[in-house]
Amino acid sequence: MENIILLGATGSVGSSVLDIIRTYPKRFSLYGFTSWSNIDKTVALIKEFSPKYVVLKEKHDSLPLLFPKVEFMYGEEGLKYICQISDAPTVVSALLGMNGFIPALETLNHGKKLIIANKEALVSGGKFLQESAKKYGGSIIPLDSEHLALFDLIRGKQKQEIKELVLTASGGPFLYRDIDARITKKEVLKHPTWNMGASITVGSALMINKGLEVIEAMRLFDLPENQIKVLVHPQSLVHGAISTIGGHWHLLASPADMRYPALHALFYPETPFEAPFGEYDPTLKSLEFFEPDYNKFPLLALSRQVAREDGLLPTVLCAVMEVVIEQFLQDNIAFHKIPDIFQEIIQEYPNITNPEIEEILIADKKAKILTLERITYKGNDLR
Ligand SMILES: NC(=O)c1ccc[n+]([C@@H]2O[C@H](COP(=O)([O-])OP(=O)(O)OC[C@H]3O[C@@H](n4cnc5c(N)ncnc54)[C@H](OP(=O)(O)O)[C@@H]3O)[C@@H](O)[C@H]2O)c1
Repeated sequence: MENIILLGATGSVGSSVLDIIRTYPKRFSLYGFTSWSNIDKTVALIKEFSPKYVVLKEKHDSLPLLFPKVEFMYGEEGLKYICQISDAPTVVSALLGMNGFIPALETLNHGKKLIIANKEALVSGGKFLQESAKKYGGSIIPLDSEHLALFDLIRGKQKQEIKELVLTASGGPFLYRDIDARITKKEVLKHPTWNMGASITVGSALMINKGLEVIEAMRLFDLPENQIKVLVHPQSLVHGAISTIGGHWHLLASPADMRYPALHALFYPETPFEAPFGEYDPTLKSLEFFEPDYNKFPLLALSRQVAREDGLLPTVLCAVMEVVIEQFLQDNIAFHKIPDIFQEIIQEYPNITNPEIEEILIADKKAKILTLERITYKGNDLR
């Protein structure tokens, strides 16, 4: 039995991971989890999984009375502590945003296995996560569908054999539509192929999500930006591909459902012995692949520039994204005006090479304040 700590159990990726734990109760046990503000779901999960540890944003006096056997912890300290628990060798991070960085680092500083969907932590602090994994004997297994596909395809291959890694992108809801003032929030939140949390759905419509995934792949596979290609693949069935110097292409396909990468990541290094959620049927749909339109999706181009310049800019990119998406969801900025804010902040932010952890954490905070101030200052011009 493998004891699992799940960070972000009440979110979209969290619920896919819970489905795996539910499906294999003899193999995995939910030893502890973190939620944040969703108390109803937290109560339901405690009843179903009887965990030993639960972390919430803040104290709720009724919960320790309702569940006296559970140890409750709170806030950022709780998040850090739950990653250290020695009885649980595996931590799955389905946290959103830079909040996931310190818990991921804490997990690896304790020599554990980190299964990670939280791309902002990898993009901003991936170098430190890799260093910690090496130093303390931990491991990093990606959970994002594209990166899990690449992780699987690369297995057993030498780095010199790899010519290019390919991340596929659905193209989002505006692949075949102009991006202009007529776009509504409802349209942005209607992803054509994936059912995901609101934040990543907006990020996918902008294709900034794919830009972050390019940097995520650089961190995970230690390859430069120009070896990581993005191809639009509207069917979202092939998640990643690699081309080798010998001219072979290897593609990995499965349905667009986060339970597939979750299943494979949790079973790794073993291969799952069955496919409990069905399989990809190659006779169902033809597969298309084509180059993205970098003019129509300028944030994909900007992310590539940020990837090349590196330093603090990946952190700034994530920070701007967190704030801008939140402001978009609160109707404070129109969808088609979002790229301008990114361009402004990235161009203005003073970059440095090889930042330390502390400098990254400060840049995250500063860039968030700067972005919020800019959006507030521009007010109606952005709506
Ligand atoms: N959704 C997908 O299909 C998908 C696919 C690939 C990769 N990813 C990546 O996976 C990550 C999670 O995405 P998601 O869509 O699952 O997000 P989500 O649905 O918004 O879930 C976020 C989780 O984090 C918790 N949370 C919120 N604020 C927090 C804070 N300040 N500190 C600690 N916990 C906090 C939430 O708790 P409460 O709900 O209780 O407040 C929830 O459990 C992102 O980095 C995303 O890019 C997502």
